[in-house]
Amino acid sequence: MGDVIESKLNETRVFQPPIDFAQKSNIDKDELDNLREWVKKDYEGFWRHFALKKIEWFKPFKKVLDDSNSPFYKFFEDGELNVSYNCLDRHLKTWRKNKAAIIWESENGNTRIMTYQELYIEVNKFANVLKTLGVKKGDRIVIYMPMIPEAAVAMFACTRIGAVHSVVFGGFSAESLRDRIEDAKPKVVITADGGYRNGKSIPLKSRVDNAVNGIEHKVDYIVTIRHIDRDVHMKPLRDFWYHDLMSDEDYASIYCEPERMNAEDPLFILYTSGSTGKPKGIVHSTAGYLLWTMLTMKWVFDIKDEDTFWCTADIGWITGHSYTVYGPLAMGSTSVMYEGVPTYPTPAKWWELVEKHSINVLYTAPTAIRALMRLGNDWVAKHNLSSLRLLGTVGEPINPEAWMWYYRYIGNENCPIVDTWWQTETGGHMITTVPGVLPAKPGSAGQPLPGIFAEVVDNEGNPVNNPDKGGFLVITKPWPSMLRTIWGDDTRYKETYWSRFNGKYYFAGDGARKDEDDYIWIMGRVDDVLNVSGHRIGTMEVESALVSHECVVEAAVVGRPDEITGEAIVAFVVLKDSADKTRHDELVRELREHVQKEIGSIAKPQEIIFTDSLPKTRSGKIMRRLLKDIAAGNEIKQDISTLEDATVLDKLKELREKMENGNGD
Ligand code: WTA
Repeated sequence: MGDVIESKLNETRVFQPPIDFAQKSNIDKDELDNLREWVKKDYEGFWRHFALKKIEWFKPFKKVLDDSNSPFYKFFEDGELNVSYNCLDRHLKTWRKNKAAIIWESENGNTRIMTYQELYIEVNKFANVLKTLGVKKGDRIVIYMPMIPEAAVAMFACTRIGAVHSVVFGGFSAESLRDRIEDAKPKVVITADGGYRNGKSIPLKSRVDNAVNGIEHKVDYIVTIRHIDRDVHMKPLRDFWYHDLMSDEDYASIYCEPERMNAEDPLFILYTSGSTGKPKGIVHSTAGYLLWTMLTMKWVFDIKDEDTFWCTADIGWITGHSYTVYGPLAMGSTSVMYEGVPTYPTPAKWWELVEKHSINVLYTAPTAIRALMRLGNDWVAKHNLSSLRLLGTVGEPINPEAWMWYYRYIGNENCPIVDTWWQTETGGHMITTVPGVLPAKPGSAGQPLPGIFAEVVDNEGNPVNNPDKGGFLVITKPWPSMLRTIWGDDTRYKETYWSRFNGKYYFAGDGARKDEDDYIWIMGRVDDVLNVSGHRIGTMEVESALVSHECVVEAAVVGRPDEITGEAIVAFVVLKDSADKTRHDELVRELREHVQKEIGSIAKPQEIIFTDSLPKTRSGKIMRRLLKDIAAGNEIKQDISTLEDATVLDKLKELREKMENGNGD
């Protein structure tokens, strides 16, 4: 764990909310002040009020919080509800019945619009299909799908019958998928014949075949959606086509009674990287999660019934869960789903979508903004973006240049930008500027939302009240949408998130500083987790992948600052004596491909450096910070007295010099 961090950023610009926006915003200054006062004075009363107001309960709860067995907190635990009922059925009783729930478009231009009524029918039918396949409350289902409406249908069908879904990002490899299947032990895997991405097709079903081939856990059924008309292998009795099941009246009858779920029943598992071991299955609860996605849609995205809302994240990430699927649909909004990359077929694709669907609120990641910014303003200028009224970002700190570009060219200096800090573990937004009230400072996420108690603390857990000093970002009170545990590993949950400050605070893994206006500036991860294009990648995972290659003895992976992706992966690799070192370039290529095969292309190292040994402490710990400096070409200013073998450093310095001269790869 790093020490308290020195602050580097010095950004002083402040942008007030546009007056027009502020006049109509869902929350004004008085309300925000009141909410903050209220939750400070009456924490339980605050949450009780919103939980009863926002959620339609089958059985309302009496008890707000059970903290008797911390950190295993429980919220609203004697209440009963169903998430698919809250996202679908309840809108059918209103004029929203025929409102667009999902507007889908693919990079090849295909479009589909599904109303709430249509989505409801599809979900009910598929829920019955799953039941007929033997799926029961509490069973797990893995969803490995492209960004198509059926992905949302599958998620809602699970929640309707109380099955726990685990969506795996379609960019992950068969091996990564297998790890997740082995951990979650699903009865059924739902996939597609393939998906489109950057003009190519992704072979999803065949990756599922590889993932389940020969594994210990037996998956009963694989349901495949036909999407790209690709030939796939269908194993008799195990594999079924979605459309066959859905057109069979015995399987897919039209109404499925929503299961009465307990507020604390798990809603889904989502795997994310940590600093040690395999990815962790983050478990979210039913009611607390739903509540916070709804409140943040209202407070942070200022959502109005007439809005068309587009969150560009893939459903394989938490952002796609909370702000493409659950949050928008629980609020009865229209959610846009796009299958593809921002730059295909042209770098104007996103702006074309904004104009065509008249999108009002756009939520995306700094890495996408930087990539689009680099391609110039002509692509933007071709389109009328005047429908936009609010912009958002998530995933990593946004650099002020990208912020300014987003503000000026996409928002026409007329849209507030909400920079939202949160995590897979937090379920929804935690720190941001409530638009219409709080001014934005480019590069700062802002302030904790009402109900969220965040602090920047030093090594001992004391608040750091010096704007120039960094510290650790912690959450000091439980909140409804927090993770409940790590799937199957309560001990790891306690250790990972609660041991750093003796069970007192949730420790998020990020460094931050707080300025004189109580604005929080996130300074990045302080653990061994990289942030590449806004995606969390554990250095350990990439190292394990490298070491699983026959030529590798040992590997250390670090991040290097990168203009587009935020961080790029650099791997230091020690080869076996038997490896043919004259095949340098081929080995580099092979190892990069190997990592892609083991984890997925997002984890592919940008650079691989072969070395005879790695710098280690006397206790054998790799000195990553040293390697980080070497990878970035920085002066080494750290204390190296703990180095086990100081000659390693000389060799690495030599390597770096070679790199600088352009032949060190
Ligand atoms: C980083 C994504 C700065 C942070 C929702 C966090 C951010 C990790 C921001 C979680 C932001 C996310 N500013 N950093 N606005 N948002 N992060 O679990 O390091 O994929 O811990 O959740 O991303 O990534 P995750």
